[in-house]
Amino acid sequence: MTFYDEVGGRPTFERLVAVFYREVALDPVLKPMYPEEDLGPAAERLTWFLVQYWGGPTTYGEQRGHPRLRMRHVPFHIDPDARDRWLRHMRTALDEVQLSPLHEATLWDYLERAAYAMVNTFEPSGIGAGPQGRPTLEHRAAPESTETT
Ligand code: HEM
Repeated sequence: MTFYDEVGGRPTFERLVAVFYREVALDPVLKPMYPEEDLGPAAERLTWFLVQYWGGPTTYGEQRGHPRLRMRHVPFHIDPDARDRWLRHMRTALDEVQLSPLHEATLWDYLERAAYAMVNTFEPSGIGAGPQGRPTLEHRAAPESTETT
């Protein structure tokens, strides 16, 4: 029995992510970060990721490859404010899904640590990572082959 099975499988993660994105859609800081107007595909990716992480089918990996989540978030301006908003919406979602206290605490602990790890700037909007800020990883020059350090 995996954590995924214990909490009720994919439908539970679908509900969690649906509530989360319902809140993101109303968030003036987070909503504009999403490249697509329709949050449906983003919700689908997050659902498959969480399903895989907690022991369900590995569809995420088959479709998206290695998660490399910090790398994938580099284009977005994730400062402590964005992190706290993300976590607030996840908290709302977790409260609505109503898991057992142990499952809830386990999931929350993970989400909190993951969100803290995703912070990539402490600069005000426009100065840190992102289209208006410093170049994203893809645009950075490859290290010199003569580099010795
Ligand atoms: C801390 C604040 C965070 C912000 C502001 C944020 C924002 C975003 C944005 C704007 C996207 C692109 C939407 C898309 O096209 O999929 C994205 C993708 C994604 N995020 Fe986050 N995120 C945060 C934290 C997290 C955390 C903690 C996790 C995991 C627990 C996570 C998991 C994902 C996944 C799986 C994707 C799709 C990656 C892919 O396959 O392309 N995010 N996020």
